[in-house]
Amino acid sequence: MATLSVQSVKKSHGAATILKGISLDIADGEFLVLVGPSGCGKSTLLRCIAGLEELDSGAIVIDGANVTQSEPRDRDLAMVFQSYALYPHLTVRENLAFGLKMRKTPPSEIVTRVAEAARMLEIEPLLDRLPKNLSGGQRQRVAMGRAVVRRPKAFLFDEPLSNLDASLRGQMRIELMRLHRQLSATMIYVTHDQVEAMTLATRIAVMKAGELQQVGTPDELYQHPANQFVAKFIGTPEMNLIPADDARKLALVHSLPDGTAQVGVRAEDVHVGHGVGAADAMVEVVEHLGWEALVHLRIGALALVARMKDPPAVGARTSITLDAAGLHFFDGTGARIFSSNDRASAQRARP
Ligand SMILES: Nc1ncnc2c1ncn2[C@@H]1O[C@H](COP(=O)(O)OP(=O)(O)OP(=O)(O)O)[C@@H](O)[C@H]1O
Ligand SMILES: [Mg+2]
Repeated sequence: MATLSVQSVKKSHGAATILKGISLDIADGEFLVLVGPSGCGKSTLLRCIAGLEELDSGAIVIDGANVTQSEPRDRDLAMVFQSYALYPHLTVRENLAFGLKMRKTPPSEIVTRVAEAARMLEIEPLLDRLPKNLSGGQRQRVAMGRAVVRRPKAFLFDEPLSNLDASLRGQMRIELMRLHRQLSATMIYVTHDQVEAMTLATRIAVMKAGELQQVGTPDELYQHPANQFVAKFIGTPEMNLIPADDARKLALVHSLPDGTAQVGVRAEDVHVGHGVGAADAMVEVVEHLGWEALVHLRIGALALVARMKDPPAVGARTSITLDAAGLHFFDGTGARIFSSNDRASAQRARP
């Protein structure tokens, strides 16, 4: 396994600059999840790391060795894509063995590694089938198996689960966590799925228009987003953002730090129907999610979402308060001034 270092990587296609100087250090055994809006350059970054794209400038360093000029096959990385091209005329066993055969791995070693990967991914009963006789989830497992048998220095996953239905994604997510634990492998994983990002990642890197916005643990990003973009991008539903003027006028927040343009508050920190000095709100829509509900509230021109177990009825008039411990203050550029939980977390982190 390996450490991976992306150093000031720039990449353009024609006149368009896709990666504007990305630097990222990934520790041995880390599960780094890369997220960001469509077109922000996630796949391009993975392809640069894998050696499938040439850099304009910068470097890729694997285990201390500069591989910027190395061919993809010499980098010893395995990449798993959203569209997994299995060889249709080869059985699962042959698909798993194919890459090893090409690399002239001794046959006995191939047998061992295929058996090991099949056991790990629970595809042993499928080994003699052809890909056309597999479900989507089983095929994706075989595609992962093909990466696993190679025992690469690191795995690069580009939205490997996005073709699967919700229930299969859920299962595969657990498989991936188990795989990561068993292999203690270094992984970079691109996804659009919030749950995947939050549950799989040791750290999440948030990217926007070819630039990294913030890199941190899921908890750091959720609790202390560096800017409004990260605040809105991480977490479902999106963080509520209240213009400073509204926050003052409605007395939702008692004191605003200098320079505050927006106050952010997550849905779980909007409390309905209790508290002194609460603002009057109207319940517009209730989304029942089973064990909780999202309640869409209106206070004049301001719309807010609250998360709660016992929602009021649609059309009800109620009052709301914001949890003083869950406020995030952003300046006019969108940068965070501070979060009200900063100090509490710093104290918790102290030994
Ligand atoms: N070969 C290419 N030539 C020109 N432009 C390209 C090329 N490859 C990618 N791009 C552009 O680079 C930008 C980033 O593409 P990329 O595929 O890295 O985005 P992404 O973050 O992976 O998006 P998605 O989430 O939709 O997969 C896009 O605007 C895309 O159109
Ligand atoms: Mg992509």
